[in-house]
Amino acid sequence: MTIQTHKIIIDTDPGIDDALAIQLAYADPRIDIVGMTTIFGNVYTHQATRNARHLAELAGHSTRVAEGVHKPYVQAPREPSHYVHGKEGYGDLDAPTPNLPQDSRTAAEFICAMADEHGKSLTLCPIGPLANIAHALDLDPDLPNKIGSVVIMGGAVTVPGNVTSHAEANIYNDPHAAERVFSSGLDVRLVGLDITSNIHCVAADFDEIGAGSPEIGGFLHDISEFYLRFYREFAGSDHCCLHDPAALMAITDPDLFTYEESPVTVLLEGEEAGNTNAVDDASRPAIRFATACNEAEIRNRFIERLRTADAVKAART
Ligand code: RIB
Ligand code: CA
Repeated sequence: MTIQTHKIIIDTDPGIDDALAIQLAYADPRIDIVGMTTIFGNVYTHQATRNARHLAELAGHSTRVAEGVHKPYVQAPREPSHYVHGKEGYGDLDAPTPNLPQDSRTAAEFICAMADEHGKSLTLCPIGPLANIAHALDLDPDLPNKIGSVVIMGGAVTVPGNVTSHAEANIYNDPHAAERVFSSGLDVRLVGLDITSNIHCVAADFDEIGAGSPEIGGFLHDISEFYLRFYREFAGSDHCCLHDPAALMAITDPDLFTYEESPVTVLLEGEEAGNTNAVDDASRPAIRFATACNEAEIRNRFIERLRTADAVKAART
């Protein structure tokens, strides 16, 4: 039986849950990571580039990594959320310096080049703020007609935000870029807090992942301790949320996700900046936003897949 392979670019600000998503993708034979592009958010863009190159090497791949912009599409930069992901994006751990070279193209140039090469078979998976996607649209306005879907971790359409009560982090950190992307005509599937806030993992789950995959899973276990501590201290919860892994699984396991379709606007200024709202406006293209999912199955498949990460690497190298 042939399995469907998804060619994807992950646009990422690794970041702990980004690292979980990236290793999940590498462990899944249904995913071919054509490249990664990096962005600010959890860390500075240069740290995101270093970490993306390290994460590719850790999985035994020589994935092309193209660096993104260092500031938002319009507004002034904010400080990274190091309090959630650690000063280097790896929790309590220092970040290794990778040998894997950086691609010479910018993120926007790389995205447009891969769109020309792969066309509708290419899926973009942004799991950080959206400035690179906005700049790619400026570089090639025909991008919406060239590529397949854009599966974004971001937004909070029917629930409160997680940075302010109005805004989710990836949108909050660059609302103008999100507005550019949501109104562009790209085939957007938004995987937001509406569902990712309900997809949980606890410390014992990362113990299990580390036991099954001592090298890669052990690394993910170690960086996740900081992430779990953040949730414990700031939210009083015994679990963390699998925000970015959920976006990856929306690509590989679409049957686990339910969407509504509507134009979605982004508030750009003031106290509600970054607020994402479904609106009745026929002049704007509609996008799909996830409203329900099978949380337990997503969590179980996440754990089971990451337990195999070392074995998948060994079989390839
Ligand atoms: O709100 C969660 C999102 O913001 C995730 O992508 C996380 O990595 C941070 O970037
Ligand atoms: Ca992220």
